[in-house]
Amino acid sequence: MSGTRQSVHGLWSSRLAFILAATGAAVGLGNIWKFPYIMGQNGGGAFVLVYLLCILLIGIPVMMSEVLIGRRGRQSPGHSVKTLALEAKASTRWQIAGWSGLVASYLILSFYAVIAGWALYYVFKTASGIFVGMPAAEVGAEFGSFVANPIALMCWSAIILAVTIFVVGKGVHKGLEKAVNYLMPSLFVLLLLMAVYSGLNGAFLEAVDFMFKPDFSKLTMNGVLLALGHAFFSLSLASGAMIIYGAYLPANVSIAKTSILIALCDTAVALLAGLAIFPLVFGYGLAPGEGPGLIFVTLPIAFGSMPFGTLFGTLFFVMLVFAAFTSAIAMIESTVAWLVETKGMKRRSATLFTGLSLWLLGLLTVFSFAGAGWATFEWNILGKPINSFFELKDYLTSAIMLPIGGLFIAVFVGWVMSEKVSAEELASTNAAYQIWRFAIRWITPIAVIIVFLNLIGVLDLFSAVIGK
Ligand code: TRP
Repeated sequence: MSGTRQSVHGLWSSRLAFILAATGAAVGLGNIWKFPYIMGQNGGGAFVLVYLLCILLIGIPVMMSEVLIGRRGRQSPGHSVKTLALEAKASTRWQIAGWSGLVASYLILSFYAVIAGWALYYVFKTASGIFVGMPAAEVGAEFGSFVANPIALMCWSAIILAVTIFVVGKGVHKGLEKAVNYLMPSLFVLLLLMAVYSGLNGAFLEAVDFMFKPDFSKLTMNGVLLALGHAFFSLSLASGAMIIYGAYLPANVSIAKTSILIALCDTAVALLAGLAIFPLVFGYGLAPGEGPGLIFVTLPIAFGSMPFGTLFGTLFFVMLVFAAFTSAIAMIESTVAWLVETKGMKRRSATLFTGLSLWLLGLLTVFSFAGAGWATFEWNILGKPINSFFELKDYLTSAIMLPIGGLFIAVFVGWVMSEKVSAEELASTNAAYQIWRFAIRWITPIAVIIVFLNLIGVLDLFSAVIGK
């Protein structure tokens, strides 16, 4: 069941089309590049456990809420929330929950495109066969000298953005949708193969211990916030995407079942990526806390020593680029749609303008890695050291804007919108509906608030006062 509004942009042709598009947006660098390295930096098992709990208790209910807002509102994120706020006779200020998503995905894309550029470079690098038989230390040095070269990073990220501009500027692109149909399942199979290979050739048990045996002494409060923020990041929540994709969802599709399926695929890819990477990290004596370069210094080692490694390695990076690309498209879409809607720009010029400005903003990321003095610094935000513009943009979005955006969405859907409307859209069995409603009204807001209060030290203060 659904409201009576119509989408002026058309609808997905089927449930499957929506699942593929939304999974394409969810699965990306976040799963394969970011999840392993932040898990590595935050002690492994305990971080993974908190992350999985966040996906289950917060991520899935929030995803359902966003798709619900989109399908009911049938417009871009800010406008959908505004329409539903009017329907609920509440303040139209709630639309900020939609707009903040637009800003977040814009900021994210300004570093995402640079990292996608690394992956693109590694397609050619791996294909050249240079990694065959290369010692582990040299693979690391190779990566180090690549990211220290700003011109190279500027060019590779320009290519990523240019292709994104080209495709998005043309509107819906059949070729891409078709390509994704094949590439997403192949990425999954290849990742599975990689995990088996690295399990057989690396330190499998040590990796499993690291990923699944929680050691809470290694988890800081900031680690908990990062796990929460990454659950939002990885599922593409609080960034407008699920609202705009939900706006094109046909009325008879079950929002609950579909959201759960997308979240499951996303989580499976992330865990597989960890299983492909950590056996090598431990087997070759590399550092799990290596940081953003982790997959670029571990996977080439495996490709360099496995049979047909050059072929598999090249394929792997091609798929990683595609996974990043389907996410980049979803990220740029909200800004482009907004420029077209309110500034009266043509779609092509809106995309070009957005892409160019993203490339410029991306220079802050490029020089963060190239180590330019003006792009690196020693800051401390809420107890977390922030040392470059890349880290700043990443922390500001994932750790702060996404959880707070998610909080607004939860409160809006759980407390402001009427129960009748959400029940009608979700059309689930009563028990399932009640579980969702409890999660969105209580668990999400309370969890996000507690994590933030804890971070700014309010809870410590509180317990000190009580203790006295
Ligand atoms: N989920 C994407 C990934 O894991 C990143 C992402 C965050 C995203 N917000 C988004 C993608 C919004 C598309 C739209 O790589």
